[in-house]
Amino acid sequence: MKYSLNTNNNPATDIQDGIVVAVFTKDHKEKTPLLGTAGEQLDKAQNGLISTILKLGDFKAHAEKTLLIPTPEGSRIILMGCGKKDELDSKTLNRCVKAVGKMIKDTSIKKLSFYLPEAPITSSDGKAQAIIQTVNAFSDSLYSLTDYKSKDKEVPPLTELTLSSVDGFDNRHQNDLDKGIGIATGMKLARDLANRPGNVCTPGYLAETAVSLGADYKNIDVDVLEESDMEKLGMGSFLSVSKGSDEPGKMIVLQYMGAKNKSDAPVALVGKGVTFDSGGISLKPGAKMDEMKFDMSGAAGMLGTLKACAEMKLPINLVVVLAAAENMPSARASKPGDIVTSLQGTTIEVLNTDAEGRLVLCDALTYVAKYKPAVVIDAATLTGACIVALGHHICAVLSNNDELAEALQTAGESINDQTWRLPMNDDYKKQLKSEFADLGNIGGPAAGTITAACFLGEFTKDYKWAHLDIAGTAWDGKNATGRPVPLLSQYLINYAQSLA
Ligand code: BES
Ligand code: MN
Ligand code: ZN
Repeated sequence: MKYSLNTNNNPATDIQDGIVVAVFTKDHKEKTPLLGTAGEQLDKAQNGLISTILKLGDFKAHAEKTLLIPTPEGSRIILMGCGKKDELDSKTLNRCVKAVGKMIKDTSIKKLSFYLPEAPITSSDGKAQAIIQTVNAFSDSLYSLTDYKSKDKEVPPLTELTLSSVDGFDNRHQNDLDKGIGIATGMKLARDLANRPGNVCTPGYLAETAVSLGADYKNIDVDVLEESDMEKLGMGSFLSVSKGSDEPGKMIVLQYMGAKNKSDAPVALVGKGVTFDSGGISLKPGAKMDEMKFDMSGAAGMLGTLKACAEMKLPINLVVVLAAAENMPSARASKPGDIVTSLQGTTIEVLNTDAEGRLVLCDALTYVAKYKPAVVIDAATLTGACIVALGHHICAVLSNNDELAEALQTAGESINDQTWRLPMNDDYKKQLKSEFADLGNIGGPAAGTITAACFLGEFTKDYKWAHLDIAGTAWDGKNATGRPVPLLSQYLINYAQSLA
């Protein structure tokens, strides 16, 4: 897909294979839904075609409603319902653009012209964010993975999207478009990885993907720790998960050097990369077990974020650590009650082998400290309890630092990848007490997301840290979403700005 900004800004001469204009719902004063300037100009050029159709009253312009009008010249006008003009917020815009994208998917349109709605949120300061979001939402709604279909590979023909705005763009906006494209590219990588089946996307496959990122960008270095390396280091907790599988576990380390000063403290991103989570000896029930191929979405999201940063050429340093393993039952697998020693030296009683995410992450979190990171953020599909608490809409943040939690919250709001903070005080920590070891790996049925974070918190005391539980948001029940790539990319954009 090619995205560009249009500087011509005349909808009448800018129809291409199709043109999208916004329509707002009427209030009690008006008789028909309202066209913006772009819609009105287009209507005039088409001899009142749009207004005639609006007068019929069938299309009410509610948010997420769309209408495709074929023109006599053989093109299409697409009305994008946006709801009430002064209520159009960035969240609604996102949904409206996605609705248009989904509709375009079923058409033969190759080149599409898209006019940003004229609303308070797309004026002056808001325009930058509207550009980023539109590109993102579009790319997201057009996504599909057809690699594993032998026939019916339906790829939408759309290849070019030009963005327009009736009051034009200025020089800075090309930069915003590039950001949008960068984030969309990262999201696509994350979605592809998470959607790939467990027999393809193994820890080794994640490592190969990392190595090819290192080959594509000259400021990315990659280092893969093999199981033998991890044994030498003493990563007994990580290895207790991967030892039940025939797929060797990998600790994948990527470094992105984007800052002028190579020695600037990096932001560290740590991802859970369980490429299939059967539960191990504490075997999961059969229903929906296929979904556990997504259990590497944290790692996929971190790789996607890294790619987005490299595409955007953000002037920051990053270190990314992916804890990649497969959780399987076998004669060599860990058993409930086994006690293991983590890299930090803390002993852990593995009371449930299905609480494996925290076991692979704790060693990665200890390891990453050697890079002296400014902050550490981990992302993991860690607990089913998180889906119970927040559903598929918002991801949980748990943090030992208020400023970091707030910065994530702000970034998420502005790019529509929301977070919600949960507490993690010592009362919850008590649930992790073990009779025989320093720490148990489960905290009972109450507050599962919080006790999982408290477990990780025992390994993150030396730095500013936030944990994202993306169990609900990384997939929507059918497909990977590419989250939290937007959230983390926006956080890093803001972070880079705070350094400048
Ligand atoms: N990967 C799962 C969490 C999960 C479950 C993510 C469902 C998405 C959908 C994780 O490894 C797990 O199994 N967690 C257990 C923890 C429990 C044993 C303390 C859970 O949530 O049931
Ligand atoms: Mn599990
Ligand atoms: Zn898991």
